[in-house]
Amino acid sequence: MIYADNNLTVAETLRILFFEMQVKENVVSFQGFKIVLYLCVILCLILIYVKYFKRSRYHIITSQLPTARGFPFLGIAYKLIPMKKFLYILESYFIKFKSWNYFAWIGPQPFLVTVDLDMIKEILTSNRFLDKSTTMYSAIDNAIPKGLITSPGEKWKHNRKLMNSTFTHKTIIKFIPIFKDGAQALVERLNDNVGNGECEVFEIIKRTFLDMAMETTMGVGLYKGNDNHNEMIRGFNYMLKQVANGAIFSTLKVGFLTYTPRYYKTKQLIKDYIETLIEDKRKANDGTIDSKNVNVKSEEVDIRKDADIFINRALNFQDQSLFQHADVLNETQTVIAGSFDTVSTQIYSILIMLAMHPNIQQKLFEETEEIISVENMSIEYEQLKQFSYMDLVIKETLRLMPSIPIIGREAVKDVTFNGINVPKGMQVMIPIFILHRRTDLWGPLAHSFNPDNFLPENNCKRHPCAYIPFSKGSRNCIGWHYAEVVLRVMLLSLIRNFKFTTSFRYEDLIFSDHISLRYVEEPKLQICRRNEFLERIN
Ligand code: HEM
Ligand SMILES: *[C@@H]1O[C@H](CO)[C@@H](O)[C@H](O)[C@H]1NC(C)=O
Ligand SMILES: *[C@@H]1O[C@H](CO)[C@@H](O)[C@H](O)[C@H]1NC(C)=O
Ligand SMILES: *[C@@H]1O[C@H](CO)[C@@H](O)[C@H](O)[C@H]1NC(C)=O
Repeated sequence: MIYADNNLTVAETLRILFFEMQVKENVVSFQGFKIVLYLCVILCLILIYVKYFKRSRYHIITSQLPTARGFPFLGIAYKLIPMKKFLYILESYFIKFKSWNYFAWIGPQPFLVTVDLDMIKEILTSNRFLDKSTTMYSAIDNAIPKGLITSPGEKWKHNRKLMNSTFTHKTIIKFIPIFKDGAQALVERLNDNVGNGECEVFEIIKRTFLDMAMETTMGVGLYKGNDNHNEMIRGFNYMLKQVANGAIFSTLKVGFLTYTPRYYKTKQLIKDYIETLIEDKRKANDGTIDSKNVNVKSEEVDIRKDADIFINRALNFQDQSLFQHADVLNETQTVIAGSFDTVSTQIYSILIMLAMHPNIQQKLFEETEEIISVENMSIEYEQLKQFSYMDLVIKETLRLMPSIPIIGREAVKDVTFNGINVPKGMQVMIPIFILHRRTDLWGPLAHSFNPDNFLPENNCKRHPCAYIPFSKGSRNCIGWHYAEVVLRVMLLSLIRNFKFTTSFRYEDLIFSDHISLRYVEEPKLQICRRNEFLERIN
């Protein structure tokens, strides 16, 4: 803790120095420059001295495996900028070293980078690796207030246990009507772009999913004409961009450079907005929620007042002193941030894949015609399970385009496995994106899109950690079931109403890791109507 605080003051000082220098840029004399230079040299010497013991200890560790060294203090970080090369650079070392584990110095510390199945299994199921990588997640931790995604140890355990109960199957089933409304909203928005040639759809998708995340978390529907909406979208987009830059900067211990005045303003804006919603909710709830009665007449109960909705549960935890007010605020923001970007990226990826593979799209459309008829568009959870081909398509997209391409953990104790000593504090990086494309696991065509990879006969013989889009173990994605259901409802509506095409070629896709997966160039999609009238899934 003390170390972290010191770090902050050094960081703050540097930042002030940095900005001062910018202001006075024109008048900095040669003399001034020399003083700054000397200061830098002294600072570096101190840093070297402080880091030396850690580093020499780490060097013994990294001699156990092939190691990407790079330059002192920078490691291979300079290769990772621009960010769009990140995934490809990480992959290149697996090929170069012919090993599924290696160490990489990124900034002044080594990371264990692994796509080794047994190693991943050990890490994701061991309670010695339950904490997230401090370095990799520090930018997220700063942008989204401490919540489930980043919080460590006992605090995580306490909150996760409570929050587990808000993501049960029973709750998610109740969200289906909201997902259907969201699907309809998305269909109407995309419909406005029919006949406009190839258009950008990602922003439209994100808008819809933020609406839905707001509704399932806070019980407020934004798409009924709320002015704050666009500002929030811009805010979240901006924060995500800063977080992505911040993540790479923090490996070099200069994450503070991304904390611009606009960053702080946006962070505050989002916080204030959520806080207002929480307060409104609390006032509105007074006297209206009786959690014991909800299930009795669940047909008539408005889902927004439902005790199962995240915010109402969280407020309930607060009433029982299980949550502090800050927990309610922090976890609400975490759940919104965790759900809206991942799911919208995934839907966008699915649409791109379908547009690039017309035969698969057609097969999917035919499946929907088999299961639901135009006369009766009513669909329940039970029927969602019948869409077996849709299931393959979603799984295959999560394989090739996992919305979270890399996860990171940290050793909380010294550990030895497979003969490798991993000391306390070691940062571990698991690039899911690369794991999912290992040709020895997925065949020589591992890089191409083929839903048949998930046919039962191909599926059964795979290692349990060969496919981990939602991570594994007790710190897996809390929203995986939510995601599975919402993706199906959305896709059903989209496929029934539209046909997607694109001139963008699969071979030209370049992926980048911006916490969420991003396309360096985002393919535009052409949207055609299937029928004269839009179909609504009921
Ligand atoms: C396709 C959609 C999604 C994908 C691919 C995905 C993937 C993941 C992955 C890989 C993790 C582990 C992250 C890590 O180890 O750092 C994670 C964690 C998490 N996800 Fe998701 N997620 C998705 C949707 C959602 C949704 C819909 C929600 C909320 C409703 C959500 C909330 C969270 C939270 C709160 C965590 C942190 C859990 C913890 O540390 O205890 N995610 N997700
Ligand atoms: C909530 O987040 C803020 C900002 O990151 C942090 O200072 C505070 O400790 C967090 N509170 C709780 C209870 O997690
Ligand atoms: C939360 O639920 C999952 C299964 O849904 C379980 O594996 C995990 O142990 C639970 N976590 C806690 C902290 O209770
Ligand atoms: C429509 O389908 C649903 C689900 O299969 C069924 O419960 C319902 O009775 C059907 N309604 C009509 C009018 O056929």
